[in-house]
Amino acid sequence: MNDQSNNLNIMASRVEAMKQELSTIASAPTNAPQGLPGYFYTDQSYFEHECTTVLKQGWHCVGRVDELAETGDYLTLQLLNEPLIIVRDEAGIKALSNVCRHRGMRLAEGSGNTKRFTCPYHAWMYGTDGSLLRASRMKNEGFDPKTCKLGEFHCEIRFGFIYVCLDGNPPDLDRRLDGLEDLIGAYEPENYRIVHSDTEIWKTNWKCLVENFMEGYHLSVVHPETLHGYTPTGLSKKAASGEGFTSYYANYPEETQSRGKGAEGLTKEARHRSTLYSAFPCQVTSIAASLLVSLMIRPIDAESIEVRWTMSAYGDELDEDTIKQRVSLWEDVNREDREKLEIMQASFKSIHATGGPLAGPDYEGTVHDFLLWLNKQST
Ligand code: FES
Ligand SMILES: [Fe+2]
Repeated sequence: MNDQSNNLNIMASRVEAMKQELSTIASAPTNAPQGLPGYFYTDQSYFEHECTTVLKQGWHCVGRVDELAETGDYLTLQLLNEPLIIVRDEAGIKALSNVCRHRGMRLAEGSGNTKRFTCPYHAWMYGTDGSLLRASRMKNEGFDPKTCKLGEFHCEIRFGFIYVCLDGNPPDLDRRLDGLEDLIGAYEPENYRIVHSDTEIWKTNWKCLVENFMEGYHLSVVHPETLHGYTPTGLSKKAASGEGFTSYYANYPEETQSRGKGAEGLTKEARHRSTLYSAFPCQVTSIAASLLVSLMIRPIDAESIEVRWTMSAYGDELDEDTIKQRVSLWEDVNREDREKLEIMQASFKSIHATGGPLAGPDYEGTVHDFLLWLNKQST
């Protein structure tokens, strides 16, 4: 056996052992849940295993529908190994491969509006439905442009968000999100309009940000100035979970004012809290009466992610100044979380990063839900 296949065998057995360990951790008694050891967040071969299972087969949020309001509007992104163009053509929103069928050049960058995508290498030209319209000087006998349509991925719209799955045989999105309508439908999430977005690279494992965003245990400690006044740890309450999501309520103290009115049908309680949910694997969201903030996590490797976050406001409810304040608050909150996660990432290679006990359902029940879900997907 040569060195290379020996190494592959060692990595495969390491991943197998970690899958076993995840299964053991997931089967801990529900009143004594455990977190994962550090190497689940640092091991590159385990990350590659996740790329071919839980990440490839997951539905990934790539943006808001109102970002692509007009025919020809598009945005681009890298999702795992796939460069993508998300574009609205006459038939609706599509997820096209951003890889030229000639010799593989990336066709489009950034975002904008266009009638066609022209490859910057040899100028092949594609329509917004992905078909090849023109390939100059291609006179080869038998050359058929119809065989050179851009690749396409499954794309769905739910709650005003655009979701893409890279697997040719994707899981049923409605089954995964079953129960989410009951949780957030009254906010009318499709009626929020985008007011801000930003993209950053964080030095953390993708699972860490899911777990961090989804637990209320750290709120008062990490965010004493920014969040504690409105959503203190002590008022966190576990909310519904489903086949592919989990959630909790970050309740506001009684004496605070509600922030915005939002949809007509909201109850007093719904106006007096933020509902935080994760649509697994990589979307984490906070929805409140007037504000919807969503983080789209794009894993780069075991120890880094690209985070694109969007902020949307309900209808025209918030004025420009309020929006600016909310953007600035969320920038602070994200910075506070990022600092902690990047320091923690550097500790994960310690032999003492063994994975500790998790707090009860209201504080870290969502992290437990996530681990159970990961375990189900990892085969
Ligand atoms: S690689 Fe796109 S036209 Fe050649
Ligand atoms: Fe936080």
